[in-house]
Amino acid sequence: MADFVRVAEATELTDPGKTLIEVDGDLVALFRVNGQFYAIDDVCTHDGGPLVEGELIDYKIACPRHGAKFDIRTGAALTMPALRGTRSHDVKIEEGGVWVRLRSGYATDGPSAHAAAAPATHASDALASEPSLPGIASGQPSHASSGTADVAEATAQSPSGPSGPSSQRLSEELIYEMLKAVKDPELFVNIVDLGLIYGVTFAPAADAADKQHVAIDMTMTSPACPAGPQLIADTKRAVGGHGDVSAVEVRIVMDPPWTPDRMTDAARDQLGIF
Ligand code: FES
Repeated sequence: MADFVRVAEATELTDPGKTLIEVDGDLVALFRVNGQFYAIDDVCTHDGGPLVEGELIDYKIACPRHGAKFDIRTGAALTMPALRGTRSHDVKIEEGGVWVRLRSGYATDGPSAHAAAAPATHASDALASEPSLPGIASGQPSHASSGTADVAEATAQSPSGPSGPSSQRLSEELIYEMLKAVKDPELFVNIVDLGLIYGVTFAPAADAADKQHVAIDMTMTSPACPAGPQLIADTKRAVGGHGDVSAVEVRIVMDPPWTPDRMTDAARDQLGIF
C-alpha cells in the first residue's frame, strides 16, 4: 500500500474549497467541506474532464465539460454522462498538514448501474437528492419528449411490417420515431431521448425523383465516444429501410456540445436520474 504524502498545509484551503495536488505522480482533486478534507482523482470517468475545475456544491463536484456529478466523499458517479465512479483516496490531518494516500480501487456506483439493476427502485440516496435537470432543450422537436411507453413501442415495431414506419409517409416526425429504435449500446437509451439528434433535413434524391436524401445532424456525448461508429451505422440502417429514402447522411455535430439537460424525462427515468 502507498504511503501518506504531505500535500498541503491544512490552513491553505478555504472551507469550502478545492485545489489540485499531485500525489506519487497522479493528479488529485483535494476538497475541504465543513471542516473535512476529501481527495478524489482529478479525472472524470466520462471523458477525462478536470474535476477540480468544476463547480463544488456541498459534497458534489460537477465536471466542467459535460456536467457529470461526483460525490467528493466516495468518488461515486451521481449523474450522467459518467457511468462509473472515480478513485477516492485516504486523507488525514497531522502536524498541521494534509496528508493523502492513494488507493487503488474505484467507486463502482454509477447512474446506469442503478437503472440496469432495478429500474423501479433505482434511486440511491444520493440520486434521490439530486435536483431534476431542466426539460428538453428548446431546439428539439416536442415529440421527442414522449414517455417510455412510446420508446418500447417504437423499438418493437417492424420496419417493414404493414403498419411499421416503412409503410408510413416520410416526415420529420416519422424519422424521429424510427430513430427511437437506435439505442446507445452502453446506456440502453434511444438516441432521440438522449437528445443526440439535432435535426433532420430532406432533399430530393439526385438519382430518383420520387425518393429523398435524408441528412441527420447527430451529436455524441463526448468527442471520443467509443459508441460513435455503431450509432452512425445503426442510424443509417434504421432510416435507410424506408422505401422513400434513397440515402442517409449522418452529420456529426459537436457544437453546441451535448449536455445532460438535452435528455428527456423518459431518458432520465430510464437512467435513474431525478
Ligand atoms: S468529461 Fe466529464 S462529463 Fe464529460
